[in-house]
Amino acid sequence: MRLNKYIAQTGRASRRKADELIFAGKVKVDGKLVKEPFYDVGEGQSVAVEGREIISAGKKAYFILNKPKGYITTTADEKGRPTVMELVKEVSERVFPVGRLDEPTTGLLVMTNDGDFAYKLMHPKHETTKTYRATVSGVVSNEKLARLRKGVDIGGYVTAPAKVEMIKQAERSAVVEVRLHEGKNRQVRKMFAAVGCRVMELERTAIGDVYLGRLRHGDIRKMTRAEIESLVKKL
Ligand code: URA
Repeated sequence: MRLNKYIAQTGRASRRKADELIFAGKVKVDGKLVKEPFYDVGEGQSVAVEGREIISAGKKAYFILNKPKGYITTTADEKGRPTVMELVKEVSERVFPVGRLDEPTTGLLVMTNDGDFAYKLMHPKHETTKTYRATVSGVVSNEKLARLRKGVDIGGYVTAPAKVEMIKQAERSAVVEVRLHEGKNRQVRKMFAAVGCRVMELERTAIGDVYLGRLRHGDIRKMTRAEIESLVKKL
């Protein structure tokens, strides 16, 4: 593909702006300065604009964001609330969030431009495990944990059996890990409400074998090939 087209396709610049960047000596191919807009970029070559590698729009990109509180997981909001798109402005590909996390929920959100992957990852039939860490007010008794594991009525729907582990019971709150194979709207909050507990903090720590790790709130990182494959394998 021609170099100017390659740059323009990423949505980073118009074709004319891409030409300007190239003439201005701001574009390198495989580390070498190229000042020719019609230079033919071959398969597997790396293109960098102002020192940052860009990936052609045709190329799939997969990221993990640690969603902070106060952002909603849509690409645009009629009411003008902040969306997760504001946190991926540095990413040259047009990635979008896969699935939903409530506005006050933090944690692992996959963002990609691969629609097929996103669709499959979300599809209930694949039952990808999602792991949450909930900080809940009060005492969560063994009896409540057992009910959560077995399934509870969250308003006309009984949740499927889930893995629920007490991480820590403090005097006034508890940290509980919940692993689900389904994803009804506000499911974790509703499950705890069904046993009389209020979720104060909720974080998604993993999807399948892909973990949030030490990624800080608002930070984003590329998924590794092994992580992408570990999810695709299950789809
Ligand atoms: N369950 C919830 O209650 N909220 C989320 O954001 C995700 C799962």
